[in-house]
Amino acid sequence: MIKLPGLIDTHVHLREPGAAQKEDFETGTKAAIAGGYTTILDMPNNPEPTVTLNTLEKKITLTKSRIYCDLGFHFGATLDSVAYFPKVKDKVFGLKVYMNHTTGGLLQENPQVLKKIFEAWLNDRVIMVHAEGPSLEKAISLSKQFNSKLHVCHVSLAEEIRLIKQAKDQRLSITCEVSGHHLFLTDEDLGRLEGFGKMRPPLPSKKDQKALWEAIADGTIDTIASDHAPHTKEEKSSNNPPNGVPGLETTLPLLLTAVSEGRLIIDDIIRLCHTNPKRIFNIPDQPDTYVEVDPTIRYTLYAIRLYTKCSWTPFEGMKVIGKIKRVVLRGNLVYDNGQVSDPPKGQVIYPKK
Ligand code: NCD
Ligand code: ZN
Ligand code: ZN
Ligand code: ZN
Repeated sequence: MIKLPGLIDTHVHLREPGAAQKEDFETGTKAAIAGGYTTILDMPNNPEPTVTLNTLEKKITLTKSRIYCDLGFHFGATLDSVAYFPKVKDKVFGLKVYMNHTTGGLLQENPQVLKKIFEAWLNDRVIMVHAEGPSLEKAISLSKQFNSKLHVCHVSLAEEIRLIKQAKDQRLSITCEVSGHHLFLTDEDLGRLEGFGKMRPPLPSKKDQKALWEAIADGTIDTIASDHAPHTKEEKSSNNPPNGVPGLETTLPLLLTAVSEGRLIIDDIIRLCHTNPKRIFNIPDQPDTYVEVDPTIRYTLYAIRLYTKCSWTPFEGMKVIGKIKRVVLRGNLVYDNGQVSDPPKGQVIYPKK
């Protein structure tokens, strides 16, 4: 048995309020616990986006007695949400800026608006960007101009890794994350997965994926996140499927499998899924909290065994090695051999001062 600290996933879409048919606070945080995460941070791109104090407080109220892991929030960036920055700064972990088209209506393309956003956000709190390819150059140059603490979400291209390395060499305050699906699936899986393999950024080529693994090895990549982005089966099998795949319950088993194959070591998992996210986002401590995994158990991933409400996974049928046996949160056994226990023991968290 291996003991891991409670893992931290800083990029999760729990979908409530507004799209609870895809996921809600109960099912999403149960999925987190079952996946070995005791802390997750929720993204603001709901149908009614988290861009005011009111929408943030509504989310916090909705979680009452319903969350199984600790849960914090990110705030959405728009021209109008800038006015709320001082009011929400101690309640959220990061500001999320969408610089490309993806799920939700938060796209910011106007250079003047982007400047205002980067200028107004606090320099000691993270600005996360969805910035693919050319947008990433814009994000880096804005963060340079305004001394921002930039965190690049879901990098998926060799070119993005190159830009981030370059920025790190220039001593800019920049960190980046990679998503599980970009490490374990490629564009060659698209034929089989169809709409169920559609996400932003899209699945990488084999060559880009190789660059991601190299960037893990050389320390360029700081965190691994699931980018858990559930949509219903109906939506994903339609003619115009929305972007996004669930990942909370599959990321750790896939990473443990990579350990069994010698592509990672356990310390990499701890660094990328606990120590680094904790430091970058100022996440509070969880005393007496840990995850026990048996690294020798072989099994197959099936959606039917998952807690996520969307009840599918792009990893259906994949063989993995390494199983999460128990999760303990603040001394409470909250997951034991496949079962998340009631009542929920999670709490809403705020950044450490
Ligand atoms: C995410 C979603 O559905 O909310 N989709 C995705 O493809 N990754 C949004 C995002 O993270 O870009
Ligand atoms: Zn556009
Ligand atoms: Zn994104
Ligand atoms: Zn996302």
